[in-house]
Amino acid sequence: MIKKIGVLTSGGDAPGMNAAIRAVVRSANALGLTVYGIQDGYKGMVEGRILELDRFSVSETLGKGGTILGTARLPEFKEEVVRKRAVEQLKRFGIEAVIVIGGDGTYKGALELTKMGINCIGIPGTIDNDIASTDFSIGFDTALHTIVDAIDKLRDTSSSHKRCSVVEVMGNRCEDLALWAGISTGAEIVVTLKSGFDEDEIFSRLNYFHDVRKKNHAIVIISEKITDVEQFAKKVTKYTGFDGRATVLGHVQRGGSPTPFDRILASRMGDRAVELLVEGVGGQCVGIINNKIVNIPIEQALETHRASNKELYKVFERQV
Ligand code: F6P
Repeated sequence: MIKKIGVLTSGGDAPGMNAAIRAVVRSANALGLTVYGIQDGYKGMVEGRILELDRFSVSETLGKGGTILGTARLPEFKEEVVRKRAVEQLKRFGIEAVIVIGGDGTYKGALELTKMGINCIGIPGTIDNDIASTDFSIGFDTALHTIVDAIDKLRDTSSSHKRCSVVEVMGNRCEDLALWAGISTGAEIVVTLKSGFDEDEIFSRLNYFHDVRKKNHAIVIISEKITDVEQFAKKVTKYTGFDGRATVLGHVQRGGSPTPFDRILASRMGDRAVELLVEGVGGQCVGIINNKIVNIPIEQALETHRASNKELYKVFERQV
C-alpha cells in the first residue's frame, strides 16, 4: 500500500478548498498515510516547495476562505520537461500519489502526471461549476450565496432610486452562477452564453417591465465575458425608462467562509479521493451526482460538456 501522498490546490481559488485539504489530511492520516502539502499548485511541485501536513496543520481551517497552500496557474506544466522536474521533486520526498483540487486545467496536469507513473485524483474546486462530471464543484454554493447577498442589497438601492442594476457575475462561460442567482434573487433578466445577448430585445423587455408591468426598478444579471457592463448600463439609461447602473462583483465572489454545503461536499470528496489512492486508482476525479459521491476517468470528465439547464430557464421565465 502507498505510504505518502501529496495534496495541492491549483487555478482560481474557491471557498471550501481548505475544507478539502483538511479532509485529505485527516482521512489519509486515519488510514495510516503521511500527507505532504504542495505550495502554489504545480509551480510549488516543480520548485520542490513541499511540506508535511499533520492533523494539527489543518486545525481551524474548515471554515476559512482561500487556500492555505496557495494556488497558481502554470501553463508551462504542459511541457514534459517541466513535469519531469515535478516528478523528480515528488520522488525526493517519497510522494507516490497526489490529490489535486481545482478546475479542468488542474485536471489536465493530473492526467499527465498519472501517465508518468504518479497516480493522481482530482477534486473539483471552482466557483464556476463548469465541470460536467459533477453536479457541484466546491465553492459554487458559497459564491452563489455571496452573489445573492450582493444582489439583494443592490435591489434595495435600485428600488429606492428607480434604477436598473446591471450586475456582472463570474462563471467562466458557465451559466450556473448567473442563472441560479437570477432565480434566487427574482432578477428581471439573466444573460448567459446559452441565453444569448440581444441588446434590443433586452431594452424592449425592460421597457415592458417599466411601462406595462409598472416595475420601478429592475435587475439584469450578466455572465462575465459577454459584454462591457458599464457601457451596457449607459445604453439602458438611453433606451429604456430606467436609469442604468453597472456593478461588477469581481473577485469578492471567490472569497469568504464556505457554506455548510461546501464544507460537507469537500469533506466527502476529500475522503473518497484518499480511498481511491489507497485502492491504487489514478487518473480519476471525484464528483457528486444525485447526492452520491462518484468517480470517473479524468479524460471522460474533460471531454464532457455540461448541457444547458433548460428546466431552470423555464422556471425563471415563467416566474419573472
Ligand atoms: O475560475 C474561477 C474564476 O474566478 C473565473 O470565474 C474567472 O473567469 C477567472 O477565475 C478569473 O481569473 P483571475 O483570478 O486569474 O483573474
